[in-house]
Amino acid sequence: MVPGREFDARLSDVKLVSVARARQVSTPPCLQAPLAARTFNAIMSARFVTLLCCALALGARDVPRAAPALDNGLARTPPMGWNSWNHFHCDVSAQLIKETADALVASGMRDAGYRYVVIDDCWQVARDRTGRLVADSARFPGGIKPLADYVHSKGLKFGIYTDAGRRTCQGRPGTYGSEEIDARTFAEWGVDYVKEDWCNSEGLDAPTQYAKFRDALAKAGRPITFSICEWGSNRPWEWGPHTGNLWRTTGDISDRWASMIAILDLSSQYALAARPGAWNDPDMLEVGNGGMTDDEYRAHFSLWAVMSAPLMAGNDVRAMPPATREILGNKDVIAVDQDSLGVQGMLVQEPGIDLQVWSKPLADGSRAVVLLNRSGLQTVIATSWRAIGLTGPARVRDLWAHSDLGAFTGRFSATVPAHGVVMVRITPVTGG
Ligand code: GLA
Repeated sequence: MVPGREFDARLSDVKLVSVARARQVSTPPCLQAPLAARTFNAIMSARFVTLLCCALALGARDVPRAAPALDNGLARTPPMGWNSWNHFHCDVSAQLIKETADALVASGMRDAGYRYVVIDDCWQVARDRTGRLVADSARFPGGIKPLADYVHSKGLKFGIYTDAGRRTCQGRPGTYGSEEIDARTFAEWGVDYVKEDWCNSEGLDAPTQYAKFRDALAKAGRPITFSICEWGSNRPWEWGPHTGNLWRTTGDISDRWASMIAILDLSSQYALAARPGAWNDPDMLEVGNGGMTDDEYRAHFSLWAVMSAPLMAGNDVRAMPPATREILGNKDVIAVDQDSLGVQGMLVQEPGIDLQVWSKPLADGSRAVVLLNRSGLQTVIATSWRAIGLTGPARVRDLWAHSDLGAFTGRFSATVPAHGVVMVRITPVTGG
């Protein structure tokens, strides 16, 4: 689409917006898919954009849906919680997890929706004689079960990490060949969420291995949210929906604007795979880790919400400055992410170079709209009702200023900071 032109469902060239954009950005090597996958991605993204554009033009409730998602009754909205990896890497311990659980409660984050407390890699050191995974006894003195009990006692849910291959990414024992015993062990410990990684999986078939663990979890008899983490390398948007509750679409995020934006461009291509119970996972949040400005973090959080992404905080919640707490705790933005319609928003308009409009249809007929300024200069961005599939007068609420801006007809514009967003909720005025 030529910058300056708005989306129109009848224009065939709009389908190329996401593809062109995804190619323009400098994608870090860790995020680059093999050539065949990239070609496939481009074809698929063109289809997805076309379909979603039509869907938006038709109205929220007519969005086409694919086959049913994994029916374990979990993750009807994108999972929310905290994961140790982005901030602490291998430096995990029972003490950290307990203090984090306490901080989630004290900061109000639990009540804002952050429920899962997930220990990532490095908690495990070996298998015992019966084949059960053993936790690092220096860092987890009582083992995992009492820790899960503690997390539960705080009104939170407990999550853990493993790897579908022979060893985890940090060289700890993997689940390959031990799917049933690991699923049983996790169920006995009271685990509510498992992230399964894909390191050291040479020669294995991803859909087969992840289905094996899905079935083992079902057999273990405890409801466990299943997070697939194979970095988008085996087209998980195709088989992920009936295998897990969420699947990573890209390589690892890092705490930089360019990384966050590259992931946005890649992950947004698979929007139509997302639905209640099954979500694209563009990776955990970096909000509060120090590598981006607060404007950039507000953009990161807004874009993850408009993409219906899992919101897994990845910072040290025990020591959050007020600005970080205000971003992660923004209830207006969280409500967009958690909207019950369960549609992933999409890029619908590019009013200029580096200026974008992202829109997500919501259950009450409104649209969540993110005006994204990818450039280094503050500027005005406008969106049109046609681009977001609305007609007539509509009320606009600014989701970062937490203020109602009044009724607008046909278009809305706002001044957007450099590397930043304005995020609004636009609700048609009915009966008037
Ligand atoms: C991979 C995953 C990360 C994290 C690390 C842990 O890189 O993608 O999210 O789990 O492994 O080793």
